[in-house]
Parts: sequence; structure tokens; C-alpha cells
Amino acid sequence: MDVSLNRTEAQLGAAPELTVVLPTYNERGNVPLVIAALRKALEGVAWEVIFVDDNSPDGTAAAARAIAAEDPRIRVIRRVGRRGLSGACVEGMLASSAPFVAVMDADMQHDETLLPRMLATLRYGEVDLAVASRKVEGGDIGDGLSAIRKAGSNFANALARKLLKVTLSDPMSGFFMLRRDVVDELAPRLSAQGFKILLDIVASGEGRLRIRELPFVFRERQEGESKLDTLVTLDYLGLLVSKYLGDMVSVRFLMFSLVGASGVLVHLVALRASLLALELDFNQAQIAATFVAMTTNFFLNNQLTYRDRRLTGFALLRGLVTFYAVCSVGVLANVGVANLIYENEPVWWIAGAAGAVMGAVWNYAASSVLTWRK
Ligand code: GDD
Ligand code: MN
Repeated sequence: MDVSLNRTEAQLGAAPELTVVLPTYNERGNVPLVIAALRKALEGVAWEVIFVDDNSPDGTAAAARAIAAEDPRIRVIRRVGRRGLSGACVEGMLASSAPFVAVMDADMQHDETLLPRMLATLRYGEVDLAVASRKVEGGDIGDGLSAIRKAGSNFANALARKLLKVTLSDPMSGFFMLRRDVVDELAPRLSAQGFKILLDIVASGEGRLRIRELPFVFRERQEGESKLDTLVTLDYLGLLVSKYLGDMVSVRFLMFSLVGASGVLVHLVALRASLLALELDFNQAQIAATFVAMTTNFFLNNQLTYRDRRLTGFALLRGLVTFYAVCSVGVLANVGVANLIYENEPVWWIAGAAGAVMGAVWNYAASSVLTWRK
């Protein structure tokens, strides 16, 4: 098949050298501002923009498409039924065919005038990743963050350095540029959850990436509001542990196990309450407590572990029923494995722990297929 372009086709537009990925969630007001800023900052560069919008209710995707209709350098990916900054960034980067890709917030907090300098360092071929940092000489966190966010950000930085031996001054930065082939290589190992895409890239690159940090001043948000919340912080801690364990377990499985562990406490409290307050006999109380624990586990997982696929309405009810079914089989798997091991090796805690791990792995695998299916 002949895939070469004829002259007129080729003249329609130069193939972009740089793709700027702009993840968006409820940023309609910022769309025209950021495009105007990029057009100005990237004059003389063959660029394209890929918006990755998670079906924002405020109509961000439509606003972006309206501009894209007049400017072929602008593309829009609208994701339905999925949420998450990191996943959106990965998807946008993978949709690029340019040799270099940048990720930048769409809310005007990042200084777009830095892009040409980031591009220059990469073109030169001596670095694989250029990071806009608020924490090197000349950079500043500015007025873009509250005092609490600043303290949290510093703590998270310290933790990342200690656990993952990351040497970046600002591993939380959401503003960076890298070679697209690096993205292609690392993509299978990147977590779709949370905000910390840069940290994930650097940790997954295991010190092989040549990195240059460039200072910038974090600006204040123009329109709309921040989407970073406490759940994002939890995701971040999950990412650190997961990377620390060398990717053996996913962030999601860690979260699921954490919820499961909290379920044991819930179970014991509910058991005691049913015995004392409801005066059930032990078997009845045990069954009641099991249902209470399964139910709280279900809702916690729906809020935390699977918040990017969160079930609502009828699907929520359907999900709850399948979760009960999955967990019931999980109990059988747990007891079965524990007994089997105990018969051969009568050490109560080894048998008990093996049973619990078996139950957790089963519950996780089965519920990801049946309850929170994609
Ligand atoms: N597609 C998509 N999906 N985009 C999202 C989502 C999501 O679930 N959540 C946020 N975004 C987009 C926002 O619309 C914005 O363009 C960008 O991601 C950053 O989100 P903000 O909500 O503005 O984050 P922030 O300003 O609080 O956090 C920034 O600073 C942090 C460090 O202090 C970001 O740059 C973070 O990446 C950074 O770690
Ligand atoms: Mn922001």
C-alpha cells in the first residue's frame, strides 16, 4: 500500500514535532485561554494539542472541539465512563505521533512560555525528560497553592525521595516534556490512577532517564477549581508503596487489600453488636456481621479502589449483589486452602494467612471482572 503523501496533502500541515497533551475536567472557561497562550508561545514550532477530556459535565470537550473545527492542530479525545488524571495523560501521549510530547495543566497554572526551552533541551539529544520545576533556583510555588497543600506537597516529596530514591526536586510537577518513544516503552507499567504521572514515569524508568529540570513559577488558577482531593493523596501513597515493592502488586490491589483489612474490624464490631444488642445466637450474629462487612467493603471499594469506574444507580445494586456472590466463594476458597495447608503443615498462622491471601486474591480478581467490569 502506498502511504506517501502527494504534494497538496503534505502542504496541508507539517507533521507536528511536539504534541502538548492537555488533560481536562471541567475547564471550559480555560480552553480558549490556554489555546491562545500556546499559539503565541509556540510560534515557529510545528505543534499540535491533544485535549483529553473525561466527559466533563461543563461541556469542556465541546468547547475544545469548536476551536478544533477551525484549527487542525487541535485534537480532542473524549473519554466516557473513566476518570483520572494520570490515565488521561498516558492516553494523550500514546495518541501522539510526534517525536516529543509535553503534558501541561489546562488551567493556566503552568507557564507555557517554558515549552520552547524544554523542546530545545530535548532536541539537543542530551536529555530524555525535561521537567518544569517549582523547586530549583529561579522556580517558585507562587500563590498557586494553599499553605496546607504546600506542606502536603513537601511531605510527599520527602517520602518519594526516601522510598523511591527519586532525586528530582519537584517530582509532583504536572508539567514536563519527554521523548515519545520513552512513553511507548514505559506505558505498560504506568498506573492510570492518581495525579502523579511524572513520579510514575521517573520511578518506572529506574534511573535510566536523563533528566533536566527547568525553573518555573506556578501561577494562580484563572477559572474553575482544583480537582485534587484527599483521595488523590491516598492514591499517591498507594503508588509509592506499589513502586517500592517493584511493581509486584498494583495500586488497585493494595487499596482493595486495605479495604479488606478494614472489613475485618468492621466484622468484629458488628459481631459484638449483634451478640449484645440484637441478642442473636453466634451463627446468626456471624452471618449478620459478614453481610455488614461485605457491604461496607463494597461501598468503600466503590468510593476508593474503583472510583474511576464508580457504579451508580441500578448498576450499583447489581454490583452489590455480584460482590456478595464473589465474596461468598472467596470465603470457601479461604477456608479450603487454609484446611489443605493445615492438614499437611499444622501451623495455625501459616494456614490462616495463606487462606486469607487466597480469599483476597480471589475476591479481587473476580470482582474486577464481575462487579467493576470495564
Ligand atoms: N482528563 C482528566 N481527568 N483531567 C483531569 C482530571 C481527570 O480526572 N482531574 C484533573 N484534571 C485536569 C484539570 O482539568 C487540569 O487541567 C489538570 O488536570 C490539573 O488539575 P487541577 O485540579 O488543576 O490540579 P492542581 O492544580 O490542584 O494540581 C496541580 O499541581 C500539582 C502539584 O501541586 C497539578 O499540576 C498536579 O499534577 C500537580 O501534582
Ligand atoms: Mn491546577
